[in-house]
Amino acid sequence: MQELSQIRVIAHRGASLYAPENTLAAFALAADQRARAIECDAKLTRDDRIVLIHDDRLDRTTSGRGPVRRHDLKEIRALDAGAWFDPRFAGERVPTLEEGLALWAERDLFPQIEIKPCLGRAARTGAAVAAATARLWPRHLPRPVLSSFSPRALDMARAAAPDLPRAYLAERLPIDWRRRLERLGCGALHCNHKYLTPARLAKVKRAGYAVRCYTVNDPARARELFAWGVDAVFTDCPDRILAVA
Ligand code: G3P
Ligand code: MG
Repeated sequence: MQELSQIRVIAHRGASLYAPENTLAAFALAADQRARAIECDAKLTRDDRIVLIHDDRLDRTTSGRGPVRRHDLKEIRALDAGAWFDPRFAGERVPTLEEGLALWAERDLFPQIEIKPCLGRAARTGAAVAAATARLWPRHLPRPVLSSFSPRALDMARAAAPDLPRAYLAERLPIDWRRRLERLGCGALHCNHKYLTPARLAKVKRAGYAVRCYTVNDPARARELFAWGVDAVFTDCPDRILAVA
């Protein structure tokens, strides 16, 4: 398995243009398309189990209704997480982090795990995701990178698993980006490509940080970002972006 520093294309929620996001089917398809890394979103159920799902609510990507944090794992596992996308994917489940880690190790996919806490659960989610990742990920493989928009979650992740590398997520580059990255002990900035400029990128790169951008589905834009010096892009269609990486 390659380290993230060697990888330019990260399958965002799996190959999520072609398969339901954050499902084992989407991650497996990313591997089939020869992606070498995936991104996923991890949050806690009511009974503090870790599941891979993006939204705070179940409604958009499952057959369920209501907030993830108000449902136990058993209830969430009974839901369908594929049919909303296409009937071909009916029967897909919301994966646990444990299932994800097993598949990624088997399919040679570097995991970039975004800690995505529900409201009021940042500390618990950060600690739980980091501890479980450190415990379950095979030791002989490169260590997964954890990221979050939540500084609190990143702090708790560091306390729970100091050896796991972290990235700070920001929609736009904050004015005090350097102080934030230093304080959180992050080695990378993950940001929305729409607000990045070559000058802003150069400043962050000169300071020694990796910069990865989401979500880039246009090959021409990916080529441009790579030419600027962006280290990697998150994409829903790894097949298209790998062609220009
Ligand atoms: O981790 C990069 C990207 O996934 C952050 O935004 O909303 O797609 O989780 P979002
Ligand atoms: Mg994400």
